[in-house]
Amino acid sequence: MKKHILIVPGDGIGQEVTAVGKKVLDKIAAKFGHEFTYDSALIGHVAIEATGNPLPEETLQKMKSSDAVLFGAVGHPKYDNDPTAKVRPEQGLLKMRKELGLYANLRPIKLFDELLSASSIKPEILKGADILFFRELTGDIYFGEKGRKNNGDTAFDMAEYSRYEVERIARKAFEAAMTRKKKLCSVDKANVLETSRLWREVVQKVALEYPEVEVEHQFVDATAMLLIKDPCRFDVVVTANLFGDILTDEASQIAGSMGMLASASIGDGTGVYEPIHGSAHDITGKGVANPLASILSAALLLDISFGLKAESDALINAVDKVLKAGFRTRDIADSQTASNMVLGTEAMGEQVLNNI
Ligand SMILES: NC(=O)c1ccc[n+]([C@@H]2O[C@H](COP(=O)([O-])OP(=O)(O)OC[C@H]3O[C@@H](n4cnc5c(N)ncnc54)[C@H](O)[C@@H]3O)[C@@H](O)[C@H]2O)c1
Repeated sequence: MKKHILIVPGDGIGQEVTAVGKKVLDKIAAKFGHEFTYDSALIGHVAIEATGNPLPEETLQKMKSSDAVLFGAVGHPKYDNDPTAKVRPEQGLLKMRKELGLYANLRPIKLFDELLSASSIKPEILKGADILFFRELTGDIYFGEKGRKNNGDTAFDMAEYSRYEVERIARKAFEAAMTRKKKLCSVDKANVLETSRLWREVVQKVALEYPEVEVEHQFVDATAMLLIKDPCRFDVVVTANLFGDILTDEASQIAGSMGMLASASIGDGTGVYEPIHGSAHDITGKGVANPLASILSAALLLDISFGLKAESDALINAVDKVLKAGFRTRDIADSQTASNMVLGTEAMGEQVLNNI
């Protein structure tokens, strides 16, 4: 199979982990007889420094003409600490999602058994947890009208959802539930928010098309609690942009670390695959970032955008073998891990490459 992949590392550890993600894609191509060609492009802080624009037109065009994008992260402390900055790295991310029509963000939360003790949650509560989140990505409070009034003393962000936006993500989630345990939990705040009442109404309507799927509607505050109390009760979870943003970071603790979680953003055109973590400037340049989320993002890319399930499984199995052998990066090591088994970014990548 011939495919063209755009590598967009972005900022901070995005650069370090995406380099490893590309290496594993290369190895898969060689092993399975595919021809992957690559290009790279700028986004985020590095793009602002080079062009003044967090998502240069050149990057957008390259994204649109690629078969898939392997993405790193955006963000820089310079902007985090300056709320008045008008041009910000995250604007590049939001614009990319809007321009590429990436309305569904899939986040599989699956715990590798070897990491049971790496989580702050008790192993007996965690064992068997396997959740697939569908976070809506192009609507909600992030994209509505925002601004200041009363001489800047009052700020507002408008949350908006259309029937169409809810329906298309709900359908994707129901379709996924049909291939899994046929359980779907829709998360909203319908007791308070009008957008949530529309959300619930639409999900209930779409549910009629999938009578085999057991549907539960939960308020987001209850979900936040139940994710930690009883993660195994969830199969597919579908929710709006803001709730999904927060709940999936919380759920990352089920997988042991932010460094373990991959995501796929899909929609009308090119799919974008990226770790859920950010640019992690506290560890940038130290060579300690966990590259497994980027590797698992590459596995999602192979499966979802290219339909290469065996190749995707080969990558996931390689990660599993490396963890079984006892190798850890710093973020997933615990008091039992011998110091010679704690690897840096590149060494962890090499271990995975050797196990493909
Ligand atoms: N999708 C994105 O690009 C994205 C997502 C979240 C945050 N951000 C941006 O990233 C910057 C930092 O944000 P933050 O600190 O809140 O979130 P973060 O995900 O970058 O880091 C949170 C914590 O997790 C650790 N961590 C994250 N990824 C890791 C990895 N692969 N290996 C080991 N440890 C890892 C970090 O060291 C840090 O302690 C900010 O500028 C923020 O806006 C970007």
